[in-house]
Amino acid sequence: MGNCLITSSRVQSAQSSQHASGPSKVTSRSSLSSFPSTQTFSTPSTVTIPSYTERSIEVLPTPRTEGEILSSSNLKAFTFSELKSATRNFRPDSLLGEGGFGCVYKGWIDEQSFAPSKPGYGMVVAIKKLKPEGFQGHKEWLTEVEYLGQLHHPNLVKLIGYCSDGDHRLLVYEFMPKGSLENHLFRRSSQPLSWAIRIKVAVGAARGFAFLHDRESQVIYRDVKASNILLDSEFNTKLSDFGLAKAGPTGDNTHVSTQVMGTHGRLSAKADVYSFGVVLLELLSGRRAFDKNKIGIEQNLVDWARHFLGDKRKLYRIMDSRLEAQYPKKATHTVATLALQCISNEAKLRPKMSEVLAALEPLQDSKEMMKQTGRSGGMVLDPGPGSKSPIGYVNSPRRGMGNGSPMASNRKSPRVR
Ligand SMILES: Nc1ncnc2c1ncn2[C@@H]1O[C@H](COP(=O)(O)OP(=O)(O)OP(=O)(O)O)[C@@H](O)[C@H]1O
Ligand SMILES: [Mg+2]
Repeated sequence: MGNCLITSSRVQSAQSSQHASGPSKVTSRSSLSSFPSTQTFSTPSTVTIPSYTERSIEVLPTPRTEGEILSSSNLKAFTFSELKSATRNFRPDSLLGEGGFGCVYKGWIDEQSFAPSKPGYGMVVAIKKLKPEGFQGHKEWLTEVEYLGQLHHPNLVKLIGYCSDGDHRLLVYEFMPKGSLENHLFRRSSQPLSWAIRIKVAVGAARGFAFLHDRESQVIYRDVKASNILLDSEFNTKLSDFGLAKAGPTGDNTHVSTQVMGTHGRLSAKADVYSFGVVLLELLSGRRAFDKNKIGIEQNLVDWARHFLGDKRKLYRIMDSRLEAQYPKKATHTVATLALQCISNEAKLRPKMSEVLAALEPLQDSKEMMKQTGRSGGMVLDPGPGSKSPIGYVNSPRRGMGNGSPMASNRKSPRVR
């Protein structure tokens, strides 16, 4: 498993307090590859930190050099030795996961002074350690400090500090006890997420993206994927990883550095909307955006699912079997229609993130959920005429829907309609 020299059992021990989370896969920065070909971007060859026009308090200031970025943030500057003690020397059993950037460890620091503390004392943090090699990694590290040092929102993960000590580059975040959405959706060992939780996660992520896109100085995130959607103990969603983020284009584009313009397409928030549509499909289907273990068209979730999304009668075919048919028909159709709009090949046909949010929000309203669910147990989708699919039947106990779930009540035995 890359540079972290760990086994999955070690990862699981670090995540034992993360309930359903298990080991993370090794991934590369790949979310841009999920765009249609017309939305690809060139890899920037220069390190140009975009400058911003100061227009309001909401606008990011104008840091240019690394020194200015680090000093302008209100973040704690940690020494490497402090983070070494916070993670007990990056012990393998503190490992939370590994991504393209490096390994993420669980650590403990004092709440007041941020000095390293013993496990069990103070507050838990997630410490991301940049792989030693790689200029690109340093650039992403700095971009992360630049953006998360200044952007604050309940649906963005909180960056507590950073370490730039010799060759060491690390980031210290608030700890997200339930790990990433990716872990929950695709790991066999994890408890399946209920419909209500999936909607909650989608709403939280959409709120985070709407915040970024609707700022006067728009931020385009460019790394929308399930592994960057982190979950707290109550499945509140926080976006992480701003290493690829860019300032969005403005009217005259004068402040936009050359690196934000690709050779094939203009950088646009609609690229994030496309990738969010892919995440919606992952939430509906429980399938990865790309799965080489599948055959033919099913390898590519967008290509495969696209044909079923607009047809209410066929929608059940793409739904995650781990939901055990426990999802409200009307809301499912709403999400599918929204996903279809988001993955439109024409960027201008995709909704804005604020519109996506407005469409998703009512679905989590408990009264609305009840209405959709119906008195007679209308949780199941019509499996289609003549279908022998068992998906419309629920014979097993309803996992993942606790007593508090609006979907768990007011429901007689599920049936196929
Ligand atoms: N703040 C955090 N709290 C708890 N766990 C975290 C936190 N940040 C990251 N993790 C865990 O570490 C894993 C790796 O995260 P990381 O962002 O390095 O890689 P990734 O998103 O999986 O891949 P990529 O590098 O391609 O973005 C995540 O999947 C998650 O399980
Ligand atoms: Mg990530």
